[in-house]
Amino acid sequence: MSETNLQVLLRRRPEGAPVPEDFEIVERPVPEPAEGQVLVRARYLSLDPYMRGRMSDAKSYAKPVPLGAVMEGATVGEVVASRDPRFAPGDHVMGGQGWQRFCAVDAARLRRVDETVAPLSAWLGVLGMPGLTAWVGLEDIGQPKAGETVVVSAASGAVGQVVGQLAKARGARVVGIAGGAAKCDFVTGTLGFDACLDHRRPLDPQLDAACPDGVDVYWENVGGHVQAAVFPRLNDFGRMVMCGMIAQYNIAPGADAAGAPAGPNLGPVVRKRLRIQGFIVSDSGWGRYDAFLAEMRPLIAAGRMRWREDVVEGLDAAPRAFIGLLEGGNFGKLAVRIG
Ligand SMILES: NC(=O)c1ccc[n+]([C@@H]2O[C@H](COP(=O)([O-])OP(=O)(O)OC[C@H]3O[C@@H](n4cnc5c(N)ncnc54)[C@H](OP(=O)(O)O)[C@@H]3O)[C@@H](O)[C@H]2O)c1
Repeated sequence: MSETNLQVLLRRRPEGAPVPEDFEIVERPVPEPAEGQVLVRARYLSLDPYMRGRMSDAKSYAKPVPLGAVMEGATVGEVVASRDPRFAPGDHVMGGQGWQRFCAVDAARLRRVDETVAPLSAWLGVLGMPGLTAWVGLEDIGQPKAGETVVVSAASGAVGQVVGQLAKARGARVVGIAGGAAKCDFVTGTLGFDACLDHRRPLDPQLDAACPDGVDVYWENVGGHVQAAVFPRLNDFGRMVMCGMIAQYNIAPGADAAGAPAGPNLGPVVRKRLRIQGFIVSDSGWGRYDAFLAEMRPLIAAGRMRWREDVVEGLDAAPRAFIGLLEGGNFGKLAVRIG
């Protein structure tokens, strides 16, 4: 094969916010698939906040990317050669092939995608890990009931978009929080949330107006000043779905960092009988993918599940796009189109 394999490697571990020099872009030979493997040519790479954690060697739920190794990440692409009977050239698949154009991957780690349900890139977002995250967190922790008020932070993002629309489909009243007027307009106008608050403006008066009866479910994607504003408004028996706290990802664990956001006073957890629970989608999510897809397919077909993608061109652009994700630079599910 005359093509080469473009790869993005982790050159060094960032201190604070990542910079482009933390990555290295190299060209390598295209790998040969072994028996039981498939050679996949990636068409889209997903960029996700969890990748900041993989760049660090701090103790976590998953191992860090070794220095000099290909950055970890999910892709959708097409099979170009197969040494496994389950896949043939031309099949479209999703899997964790990393920040690279080609990957020889064990067939058992791939999932076939169906472009008649949604376009290829959507299998990294609304039908991929972020969408599955939304579904798992609502099923297991948020459990919104008809008439309840659900508040979703990072509402225009990959996870937040799906959380709000699934909660609406279950009869809840949904209030998003996002950064800036354009994102808020999209969240109400296109996604159909009942309201969306701009966290760049004072949140308390906006929350007073949008949540006069308090908050039953708070979906936490952000932390920081957004969490501090929403937490005191949780009603008795409220649920706080701890999905992520992206505002803190560039702060070293345990560091007494200037500017680290102060957490809320947790005293009311007992008095209000609150449930605050974290979760990681990969614990149980992929084993329940078929149930997730069964709920999503009819919503997509009926136009009741919409989404926005923010697609940048070329693997070279991946480091800067990822750095921007940690500052709110993306508008919608961030992905890279791999030429
Ligand atoms: N638990 C799990 O298994 C799991 C799985 C997937 C994702 N997550 C978490 O879910 C959250 C959302 O992920 P996503 O993939 O859907 O990303 P996303 O919402 O598409 O993008 C991140 C968004 O977070 C907001 N943001 C970024 N930096 C911020 C900062 N310093 N302060 C406040 N807001 C900031 C920005 O939105 P605004 O401009 O609107 O502020 C940005 O667009 C993240 O915390 C992620 O780690 C958890």
